[in-house]
Amino acid sequence: MERRLTVGSLIKNKQRMEIAEFPSTMQSVIKIKQNNRPFQLLPISNELLLDIALKQEIPLDYKCRKGTCGRCAVEVLEGQNLLYRRTKRELEKSQNVNMRLACQARIK
Ligand code: FES
Repeated sequence: MERRLTVGSLIKNKQRMEIAEFPSTMQSVIKIKQNNRPFQLLPISNELLLDIALKQEIPLDYKCRKGTCGRCAVEVLEGQNLLYRRTKRELEKSQNVNMRLACQARIK
């Protein structure tokens, strides 16, 4: 069967391409800073910030993984809305709403 191209079909294809490209340019990222080093990571639903960082080879400092030592503390620069509320342990560690314990902060 021969495929016929018309001006209208070419315009529709162009519009589809632009829409398909839209999500990749708008992909959410979480920007954090630890010990004055900025990092960006891609969120994965229901995972801990620390686990995502390590999977993405972001060398975050951490120790206990229980929310007690505070070594995994990061400042969230962007993407706070992608995280669940601060846990009880996080509230005990800091009053700063942008400071999160990477071992406790979970992605929505
Ligand atoms: S690793 Fe100790 S509080 Fe997160």
